[in-house]
Amino acid sequence: MVAILGYSRPQIIAAVQAMYGAVAATPDAPFHFPVGADACRRLGYPAAQTAELPGETLARFAGVGYPFRAGAIRPGDRVLDIGAGAGNDALIARRLAGPGGRVIALDLTAGMTRRLSGAIRRAGIDDLDIVQGSAEQLPLPDGCVDSITSNGALNLVPDKRRAVAEMFRVLKSRGRLQLADVVIHRPVSVDCHEDPRLWVECVVGATVKEDLLALFEEAGFEEVRIVGEHDYFALSESPQTREVAESFGAHAIEVGMRRGETAPSWAWRWRHRLDPRRAWRRLHRRGLLGVAALALALLSCYGTLALVALLPLLGIGLALDEGLWAGSIAGFVLLTLAALAAGIRRHADYWPTMLGAMGGGLVLYALFVDYLALVELAGFVLLGSGVAWDLRRRRRRETQVLGLEGATSRRQTR
Ligand SMILES: C[S@@+](CC[C@H](N)C(=O)[O-])C[C@H]1O[C@@H](n2cnc3c(N)ncnc32)[C@H](O)[C@@H]1O
Repeated sequence: MVAILGYSRPQIIAAVQAMYGAVAATPDAPFHFPVGADACRRLGYPAAQTAELPGETLARFAGVGYPFRAGAIRPGDRVLDIGAGAGNDALIARRLAGPGGRVIALDLTAGMTRRLSGAIRRAGIDDLDIVQGSAEQLPLPDGCVDSITSNGALNLVPDKRRAVAEMFRVLKSRGRLQLADVVIHRPVSVDCHEDPRLWVECVVGATVKEDLLALFEEAGFEEVRIVGEHDYFALSESPQTREVAESFGAHAIEVGMRRGETAPSWAWRWRHRLDPRRAWRRLHRRGLLGVAALALALLSCYGTLALVALLPLLGIGLALDEGLWAGSIAGFVLLTLAALAAGIRRHADYWPTMLGAMGGGLVLYALFVDYLALVELAGFVLLGSGVAWDLRRRRRRETQVLGLEGATSRRQTR
């Protein structure tokens, strides 16, 4: 909570600018992510494409994949590169778009845009426009580009929904988008998510893969497809970054898609967002399944009792099937315990599960052996304490893995 109050969006943006300003100024310095020609080669860029790039831009390559795998750029295209950095992808796009095309390289970091301006001037390139600006507010008119490319930038953008809406706005109808970005397998807790130091690690700003793809679909993109997926962080020289990435299942994907003709309706978007499968996935990945199961156990226990007491006052008779009632409470209690046990894998602490099991045992005893309201209540209190303890342990473990607690020295990743 302290982190939520302490850090803000401008601080995240400032941290991103400081990090990529450093890449622009001193590309040979050690960074926790792969930089330069070797990274480019290892991510799959064909030698024929990189051979044509100026050495000074190639040395500052900081992409996470090879977005051209999606093949979005056609001859004659007006192309936008979002988060262009030193401009290598913009220069490749310029080649693919050919003499009738034009490319705009947009980046947030002044150090990067200045470098790119100098590099293209020295290389005698005059058909590349460079814009310093934010992906969240593209300084371009509606429907002005045929294709968009982006490599490693979206995970660094605080308001991704807005950035995706901006991509939709500036693309022509049926325009094409190719993207390489980092995705994660499970979301980072809110406190860690708000820490600007962690944003520049390229992990905590990333989105769960399915949620990222859903973001594009909800904005009106069609034929959203993954064309490549790889363990980008295995290339990192920092053991801590590799550990953080592994813990969150962080890896890179390359995606291709097409802009639909119109944005989906408000109702469609909300139906899509409220899909129960997505809600389940979110609960599961955030480690909140125990909380949800406990809430359902309490609701089926005391909620049903309240209904049984209240409905006759409204003249509605309710016959309670006690077997079904007790069975559903027991089911949710067992689900809570299963979620607690799953937490052991995360934090290796058995005590929250033991406490929860004692509580669960008391509830089941009251339900099936000898009903005593106080025993049942004590059981729920213990079960709830086990869930709260487990959540605390999970978050503590996360702050440790991310190096936010008791390991300041380990954060010397650059
Ligand atoms: C990981 S680097 C990749 C750079 C480049 N695409 C490449 O492949 O070398 C991410 C780039 O995105 C830029 N960036 C981060 N947040 C941005 C935002 N909100 N708007 C525009 N660019 C942004 C950073 O300044 C940085 O240059």
